[in-house]
Amino acid sequence: MDFKEELKNYQRIVEDELNKYRRDKSCPEAMLNESMEYSLIAGGKKLRPILILSTYKLFKDDFNVCMPYAIAIEMIHNFSLIHDDLPAIDNDDFRHGKLTNHKKFNESTAILAGDGLMNYAYIVISEDLKNTVNKEILDLKLKVFNEFTVAVDRMIAGEYVDTEFERKPISSDYLEYMHKNKTGALIRLCVRIGAILGGATEEQLADLTLYAEKIGLAFQIKDDILSEEGDEAVTGKPVGNDREKHKCTYVTKYGLEEAKTILDKIILEAIEITNKHGDKGEFLKQLAIYIKERNK
Ligand code: IPE
Ligand code: IPE
Ligand code: MG
Ligand code: MG
Repeated sequence: MDFKEELKNYQRIVEDELNKYRRDKSCPEAMLNESMEYSLIAGGKKLRPILILSTYKLFKDDFNVCMPYAIAIEMIHNFSLIHDDLPAIDNDDFRHGKLTNHKKFNESTAILAGDGLMNYAYIVISEDLKNTVNKEILDLKLKVFNEFTVAVDRMIAGEYVDTEFERKPISSDYLEYMHKNKTGALIRLCVRIGAILGGATEEQLADLTLYAEKIGLAFQIKDDILSEEGDEAVTGKPVGNDREKHKCTYVTKYGLEEAKTILDKIILEAIEITNKHGDKGEFLKQLAIYIKERNK
């Protein structure tokens, strides 16, 4: 399996699907719609939708049943990024190698674009629920929808803790809590969506959830590391900004080397879980390695 190729292939599939959700540009709120698309369509690794599709693939081949949830999670993710970059939160000017939403448009548009993307996600899901006639599948989707709303709640809680602890000392427990919520919750959700819709047993679901919790925490630790020593030309977002803003991160708490050691350990634990799935688990295994080694 060529992991890089497969990743690109998934990215293309998600981008093609996202393009179907473009909105009207001839209405009075045309600029709002443009600003939502500015963040949603161009740029980004599409990691969360890919996690949904690739986890589902452990169980079944045709992942179309997951697609509305893959799209909805990318909408929520971009809502979180637009608001995360706002002056009142991280005050960042660049993302995906271009101006952040509020810099490209303006603050009021960016706030509303975030709101709009959040609600668009719920429109996409509710349309899908409305159109699902098979009772068994509908039950699985209702379980997924419930988990979806709870995970978004956790992401928001984590973002709150992040802002609350700026310029304050943080305990290791609170730091882990913050990362598991602000970033881990959506990543965990994605793996669970793929597994639930794929028909995983309770045991398989618990096992994959553990994997997801590990890569979710690892993903944010790596983000902290990239904020310290990444290359802006590659990450497409500012480097040094966490330190400048006195953010609590694994790097500011433990130092760069220790943060990398913690990251290595968590990724190894995630890989061990994928080993149980044999050849089928290869993509998730490579994805865990990618999360550790990525440079953007
Ligand atoms: C960035 O997430 C924000 C975090 C939760 C760390 P990603 O790095 O997945 O964002 P994009 O969509 O690929 O830019
Ligand atoms: C982003 O955390 C987490 C969410 C948006 C939920 P960060 O603020 O650390 O991420 P970047 O570095 O701006 O992408
Ligand atoms: Mg932030
Ligand atoms: Mg930020």
